[in-house]
Amino acid sequence: MTPGNILAVATLKGGSGKSTLASCLAVHWRQTGRDPALIDADPQRSLLRLAARQGALGGVPVIEDSGDTVIATARAQSQAHAPVIVDTAGFRAPSTLAALAAADLVVVPVKASPLDVDVMVDTARTLFAARDGRRPRFRCVLTQTTRDSVIARHIRSELMAAGFPLFECEIVNRIAYGEAALYGTTPTIAEPRGAAAREIAALAEEIESVLARKGDPE
Ligand SMILES: Nc1ncnc2c1ncn2[C@@H]1O[C@H](COP(=O)(O)OP(=O)(O)OP(=O)(O)O)[C@@H](O)[C@H]1O
Ligand SMILES: [Mg+2]
Repeated sequence: MTPGNILAVATLKGGSGKSTLASCLAVHWRQTGRDPALIDADPQRSLLRLAARQGALGGVPVIEDSGDTVIATARAQSQAHAPVIVDTAGFRAPSTLAALAAADLVVVPVKASPLDVDVMVDTARTLFAARDGRRPRFRCVLTQTTRDSVIARHIRSELMAAGFPLFECEIVNRIAYGEAALYGTTPTIAEPRGAAAREIAALAEEIESVLARKGDPE
């Protein structure tokens, strides 16, 4: 990954797994020899609280900025760290809009529930409308999916029909995510060979390949 890549993790629906995903990706990249930084742009301070626990998110630095100054903060951090991952608030806050404007790629976790997909489709067009002539580049990822259920498959096809690009990889509903968070770590540290660590690695790889095609038209 080239230096200077900024990722934002954003949705309009609370509890979709933004903070979980942001922390898991950051720890994965740190464990594989990169030097990521997290920016906590959510006044709930979920990442700061995780980093204060025993595992300290494997040493990934967490910078707090929930103001619209988050663009400048993300760009400043990207001079020293790559990637910079911004965890946004679960609502349409000015800091969320700023993070979207600063991001090279917005990762949108969509909880695999039939209710969430309606919210997603109804509101995503506004969230991802072009600002200053630039439409943020984004990809959805299904989260908290249940294996052997038709729900994720159904939501995947609805999102595709609505024109929302999706990552192949899905984040399954696994206790490993919550258990690791209790100690301020992620599955990559707590259970490096486990299924959760492997799906995070697969998602990280997909993100890297999208970022590598930076100049491509969407
Ligand atoms: N893949 C998963 N499997 C099981 N539990 C998960 C998974 N992803 C997230 N969770 C749990 O779901 C809850 C919400 O996740 P998280 O805090 O990451 O969402 P969020 O989008 O950041 O929420 P908020 O909008 O409040 O910031 C947490 O308790 C978290 O541990
Ligand atoms: Mg959160």
